[in-house]
Amino acid sequence: MNKDIVYLNGEYLPADRAQISVFDRGFLFADSVYEVIPYYQGVGFRLQQHLDRLAYSLRAIRIETEYDWAAILDELVSRNGGGNLSVYLQISRGSAGYRTHAYDDRMQPTVFACCSPIRDIYADGPEQVQGFKVIVTADLRWHRCDIKSTGLLPNILVLQQAREAGADEALLVRDGLLSEGTSCNLFLVRQGVIYTPKRSSEILGGTTRELILELAAENGIPYQEVDLRPDELAGADEVWISSSTRGVVPVLEIDGCPVADGARGPLWQRMFTLFTRFQHRLMTGESS
Ligand code: PDD
Repeated sequence: MNKDIVYLNGEYLPADRAQISVFDRGFLFADSVYEVIPYYQGVGFRLQQHLDRLAYSLRAIRIETEYDWAAILDELVSRNGGGNLSVYLQISRGSAGYRTHAYDDRMQPTVFACCSPIRDIYADGPEQVQGFKVIVTADLRWHRCDIKSTGLLPNILVLQQAREAGADEALLVRDGLLSEGTSCNLFLVRQGVIYTPKRSSEILGGTTRELILELAAENGIPYQEVDLRPDELAGADEVWISSSTRGVVPVLEIDGCPVADGARGPLWQRMFTLFTRFQHRLMTGESS
C-alpha cells in the first residue's frame, strides 16, 4: 500500500486513503489536465513556467479555478520529506454524480497531487546519463498537443511500440514533419546549430525546451525553430530529447542506426554543463 502523502481537494492524506468518484470526468473522459514538476532539494525547478503552462491548459479547456498552486505543492513536498521529488498535479473538471458528456460550469474541479522520488540528473555528471534509443513512427494524437491533457492513450500505445522494439522513446511524425516524442521535445544539431520544431498546437511547449533555448541564447549558441523532416535525422550530428524529469538527453540510436558516430556529442555535453550550472545557481541563489 502506498503511504505517501497526497493532496486531494484541500486535504493532505495517505495515498491509500485518497478517493475520488467513479463519475469523475478525469476518469471517464480524460477531461483533465496535468503538470509534472521536478523539485530538487525541496525547491521547484522552473515552477513558475510549469504554473504558467497549467494556467494555459486550464484556460484552453475552460476550467476556472483559483488556487495557490505553489503553496499546495511546496507543502506536499515538505510533507513527503523534501529532497528530490517529481510532483504530479492533475485537475479534472469534477463529477456530475452520473455519466454525461455535456458539462456544467458549476462543477467543482477535482484537484489531485502526488510525488515520487527522482534522481538529481545534474548532480551525477554527464557520464552517468544514459543515451536513448528511439524509433520514428506516426503521431496518432489530436491537434491540441499544446494542452497538457491526461488523454495520453496514443502516447502510451506508441511508447509501448518503442519498448517492444527495444527502444526508450518514439519520435512522432505528422504530415511529413517531426513533432516531438511521446513525453519529450526534440532537438537536432547540425554544424553547431540547434534545430527544434517550432511551437504550434502540434507540440507541447516544454519548459525544458524553453530553458535549452534560453541557455543557447545566453551563451551564443545559434538555434532555429523550424519544420524538421524525419529524413533530416540521418544527416544530424546530434539528436537530443528533453523533459522535466529527464533533462536534456542525447539520442544515440534511431531505428537501429547510430546517430553520427553513436557517441554523445560535444554540443550536448556543453548544454548539459549549462543546465548543471543553471540548476546550481537556482539551488544556491548564486547569481554567477
Ligand atoms: N512530459 N512533450 C510532451 C508530449 C510531454 O508530455 C512532455 C513532458 C514534454 C516536455 O515538457 P517539459 O520539459 O515541460 O517536461 C514535451 C512529462 C514529463 C510527463 O508527461 O510525465
